[in-house]
Amino acid sequence: MRHALISLVMLATTASGPAKAGHYFSDVASGFSQTQETQVIEISAERFSFNPSEIRVKAGTKLEIRLTSEDTMHGFHIVGTDINLELPKRGRGVASATFQPTPGRYEFECSRLCGAGHSFMRGVIIATE
Ligand code: CUA
Repeated sequence: MRHALISLVMLATTASGPAKAGHYFSDVASGFSQTQETQVIEISAERFSFNPSEIRVKAGTKLEIRLTSEDTMHGFHIVGTDINLELPKRGRGVASATFQPTPGRYEFECSRLCGAGHSFMRGVIIATE
């Protein structure tokens, strides 16, 4: 048992040397992503706002964004990303997307014409270090 532990430590030391650092870390990253905690963010959409409309998270956190509508169909587009969902009408289900932000501000907007105030349906995700 003790030997196994020591060789594991040695392996880590060797592999994290400059030559193999990239490969080693990418293996570690994929290993962690399966067990990493996901933060669930629930947003409701209603003519003509998202609630909450400002979301603050720690950068690098894997987010599961769940969206429901309180009335008609809406959209949810995070500007600058390919995340663009259609939210079903009230009572017809949840739309969800995963998003793992690097530090920054991510504006989101309704992407489905939903009435006179459609263009006011906006919000922001702020990811800080
Ligand atoms: Cu809600 Cu457009």
